[in-house]
Amino acid sequence: MDLRTLGCVLLLPLQLLYHTLRAGVRLLLPGRRRDLSGDVVLITGGGRGIGRHLAKEFSQSGAKKLILWGRTEKCLKEACEEINHMGTECHYFVCDVANREEVYKQAKVVREKVGDVTILVNNAAVVHGKSLMDSEDDALLKSQHVNTMGQFWTTKAFLPRMLELQKGHMVCVNSILSLSPIPGAIDYCTSKASSLAFMESLTLGLLDCPGVGCTTVLPFHTNTEMFQGMRVRFPKLFPPLRPEVVAQRTVDAVRTNTAFVYLPWSMHALVFLKSILPQSALAEIHRFSGTYTCMNTFKGRT
Ligand SMILES: NC(=O)c1ccc[n+]([C@@H]2O[C@H](COP(=O)([O-])OP(=O)(O)OC[C@H]3O[C@@H](n4cnc5c(N)ncnc54)[C@H](OP(=O)(O)O)[C@@H]3O)[C@@H](O)[C@H]2O)c1
Repeated sequence: MDLRTLGCVLLLPLQLLYHTLRAGVRLLLPGRRRDLSGDVVLITGGGRGIGRHLAKEFSQSGAKKLILWGRTEKCLKEACEEINHMGTECHYFVCDVANREEVYKQAKVVREKVGDVTILVNNAAVVHGKSLMDSEDDALLKSQHVNTMGQFWTTKAFLPRMLELQKGHMVCVNSILSLSPIPGAIDYCTSKASSLAFMESLTLGLLDCPGVGCTTVLPFHTNTEMFQGMRVRFPKLFPPLRPEVVAQRTVDAVRTNTAFVYLPWSMHALVFLKSILPQSALAEIHRFSGTYTCMNTFKGRT
């Protein structure tokens, strides 16, 4: 081994220790938060659920302008009016993120009518909620097109300008199900796992791009229409998150440039256990918590 390689090998554990301690200190003493007053934020799926709460949270945190994308004009219009009443300029556009041409076309309209997007929140998603054998092929494809490919198109549409401006942030509202999948949502879990890989790859790929950061949020079950009817075994032990809390934590992670956020924090334990326990023990955890059968009562909406 030459001296240079030896130096790098010896340096690595020190660097790991430094960054771990730094992250610990940041948890206890969060640093300066990003000022959002010059930011134009686009939220896909901004008309309802977590996306609508995100819009309100960005508005309260001082964002300059908001843009909401979604499929349903009625709820986009209502959400937009609410944000305008809060004193933040807000625009909405009907755009199906699964449709590549529509994404590129609407992105051009946004640039011309509103300006350069500096924070892109990929939040739109669907869940089909049936077993593989009970699912129509088109329904399985739809989850992948919206939840995974939609992110490719929106990122290709907006990231280049952020890189030019050296100012931007890419946000993904993912799910803890990307790391701990459940039966009965095979379409969703698969799409969220590839969306997580997309964000992990993007986060590393942007390491040397000054001014452009990434945040991926992985929430547990949240109280919106998406997973309506889903029942875990002990709801008091595992209560759903409130969408406003997910929104607050997401905006805070953007402002502190935090790359990955598990919600709640205890989900770290699940990921750790998954990496050390045998599959039979993990199956017991799923039986105990009821995640094994929780989709049997699912109603949801796509
Ligand atoms: N709810 C949970 O338990 C939970 C847990 C973890 C993570 N998440 C994630 O949080 C995010 C928001 O979910 P939510 O709970 O707020 O669900 P939701 O209430 O069902 O909202 C989903 C949003 O996505 C939009 N959308 C769906 N398909 C679209 C498409 N093709 N093009 C554009 N917009 C589309 C919907 O717009 P329209 O209403 O116009 O169709 C809606 O605004 C999702 O990424 C979800 O995976 C949710």
